[in-house]
Amino acid sequence: MKAITYSNYGPPEVLQLRDVEKPVLKDDEVLIRVMAAEATKADCEMRSFRFAVMWFWLPMRIAFGVKRPRRQILGGYFSGVVASCGKDVTQFSEGDEVFGSAGLKLGAYGEYVALPASCTIAAKPGNMSFAEAAAVPLGGLNALHFIRLANVQAGEKVLINGAGGSIGSHGVQIAKSMGAEVTAVDSTHKEGMLRSIGADHFIDYTKEDFATTGRKYDVILDMVSGNSYSASIKALNPHGRYLSGNPRLSVMLRSVFTTRLTNKTARFAFAGESLEELRTLKEMVESGKIESIVDRIYPMSQAADAHTCVETEQRLGAVVLAIHDSDDDLCTE
Ligand SMILES: NC(=O)c1ccc[n+]([C@@H]2O[C@H](COP(=O)([O-])OP(=O)(O)OC[C@H]3O[C@@H](n4cnc5c(N)ncnc54)[C@H](OP(=O)(O)O)[C@@H]3O)[C@@H](O)[C@H]2O)c1
Repeated sequence: MKAITYSNYGPPEVLQLRDVEKPVLKDDEVLIRVMAAEATKADCEMRSFRFAVMWFWLPMRIAFGVKRPRRQILGGYFSGVVASCGKDVTQFSEGDEVFGSAGLKLGAYGEYVALPASCTIAAKPGNMSFAEAAAVPLGGLNALHFIRLANVQAGEKVLINGAGGSIGSHGVQIAKSMGAEVTAVDSTHKEGMLRSIGADHFIDYTKEDFATTGRKYDVILDMVSGNSYSASIKALNPHGRYLSGNPRLSVMLRSVFTTRLTNKTARFAFAGESLEELRTLKEMVESGKIESIVDRIYPMSQAADAHTCVETEQRLGAVVLAIHDSDDDLCTE
């Protein structure tokens, strides 16, 4: 089978399209014919080994390979079709259309991926193309997890920093569906897209610092590392909640004191990616509460360009790799 592989950490050009062995299915696994995989910021970070927060480096290097990547096929979030099931698998059948997360196993940049049936994999939303469905799990699972942790209530003022990204754009839609008043913070050209998916207010981070405008929020969901922590906490109303999805060590430490010593709560979060959350997202998609915004679809042979786009270009939505691209379903209607 064909797969986008990398054998050294480095720039996008380390990604190579190669013929590799098709995965051998274990009894508790499901073999998925991948149709599309999102090229995510996290994929780029694992490829280059450059993270927004420095402390990620050591644990990630130990987990993923000290000298070179242990798993040479990236890709955590995908849509596809079940090709076959191990003998112990009861919840899937050949031909099922699915979407989900490969977790730390990765491998969705290959034409086939074998995953334990216990992974976060669910039936694909019926009203989405494969490309659109592949763009849901990363952003949706993280955003839903963070917004639930923040216990967002109808009528509350929610600010999302980094709102135009994969996680943020799902966060805007999920918070809106819960009845919140949403302020989106991102760069100039994303304003139209963010308002079209429901943002009530927009702050351009290239012109204004959300934390120093004097406006207050009940919840701040911060997907960007490097803002002033104390200014962000000051921008919260009493009993406000601050959630960092990309926390520096100092933020992790200070959040403990904020929560213990003030009437505000600060938390850092790592999404658990549960099956219940993925099924909730499928329902939200099918009931029209959320949609995925796909900016560009690249063929496997242009994986390096896809990563360059995620890292450097001002994209409006997700970048998706068409893994089995002969199918019309990969075209967004
Ligand atoms: N905690 C967890 O469990 C978890 C899970 C997955 C990912 N993450 C991390 O979360 C981060 C965001 O992920 P993502 O996939 O949503 O990334 P993404 O798609 O790249 O989105 C980031 C967004 O933030 C914007 N941005 C950049 N600098 C900003 C600033 N100073 N102020 C406001 N917005 C700014 C970017 O806009 P521009 O176009 O202007 O750059 C982009 O729209 C990544 O670093 C990722 O590793 C955390």
